[in-house]
Amino acid sequence: MTSEFFVDFKVQKDIFKRALEKDFSITEIQQIWRQILIHFLSISPIEQISMGSHQFSAAETNVINNIVQRLHNKEPFQHIIGEVEFYGLELKSDARGLIPRPETEELVDWVVNDQAFEPSNILDVCSGSGCITLALSQLFPDAQVSGIENSRNAISLAEENAISLKLPVQFKESDVLNTNQFKNTLKDLTKKVLFDVIVSNPPYIPQAEKDNMDLVVLNHEPNEALFVPDDDPLVFYRAIAKAVLPFLSTSGAIYFECHYLHLENTRKLLIELGFNSVEKRKDMQGKWRMLKARK
Ligand SMILES: C[S@@+](CC[C@H](N)C(=O)[O-])C[C@H]1O[C@@H](n2cnc3c(N)ncnc32)[C@H](O)[C@@H]1O
Repeated sequence: MTSEFFVDFKVQKDIFKRALEKDFSITEIQQIWRQILIHFLSISPIEQISMGSHQFSAAETNVINNIVQRLHNKEPFQHIIGEVEFYGLELKSDARGLIPRPETEELVDWVVNDQAFEPSNILDVCSGSGCITLALSQLFPDAQVSGIENSRNAISLAEENAISLKLPVQFKESDVLNTNQFKNTLKDLTKKVLFDVIVSNPPYIPQAEKDNMDLVVLNHEPNEALFVPDDDPLVFYRAIAKAVLPFLSTSGAIYFECHYLHLENTRKLLIELGFNSVEKRKDMQGKWRMLKARK
């Protein structure tokens, strides 16, 4: 006769907490725990409220312990569950694209709350997983919304996200550091009407910061999505701002996410390149993170 092995709910949750408390805050551990129950053990948030007397089977315990092991191996939790929430949208998340960050939701928030009328033509430069493109398409259903990106992997992830959310966006493969190629893509996207909103969260972390970064990011997210040369940290802002200026409508605006240490230089750069009324904003951490500029 084989005897089934069970672990008390509270005991298992406590083991889980203690296993992760070195690397995660209590709030993060709670969120991860809830997500594991939903995604891997099919226990809904409502069912979770009244499961204090639940006994985990050996199979369930194995699932939980396996995830703890993957987290110890520095795998991002978003990749383990294969999805991430961004501005109310559920997006697929894997090694093909950068995991969308909360600061970028704040950038989208600025764009959304800033529009007196529904924009007609919106561009997201360096679109990655498509998070900004898709959030804006969802909020402005009558607008043409396009993303420009040079990583085919990221584009395939963004397109899968667009299909599963049924959002009518388009992603164009183009290298923003290749002046002619980028200009041709911009021309192509403005045949009918200039852009009234351009948004960009380009790579902006100097290589020198790599040494202080978490292995979760360094080992699992695309390096080309993150880093810029130490001797030219504004390379993307210069290339994007220069190229898009003729394609931005007179009443339109460009919104950038920036490195907090380079925001002031980025602001000066935009003014030098001919932009006006450049405004800056802090993120929720109190760091100068975003810029908005008009022609
Ligand atoms: C910081 S990530 C932002 C991704 C996404 N917009 C977001 O907010 O999560 C920057 C993106 O720029 C893309 N990228 C890097 N170099 C590029 C280039 N030369 N031309 C176009 N896109 C580029 C990367 O592949 C990456 O997807």
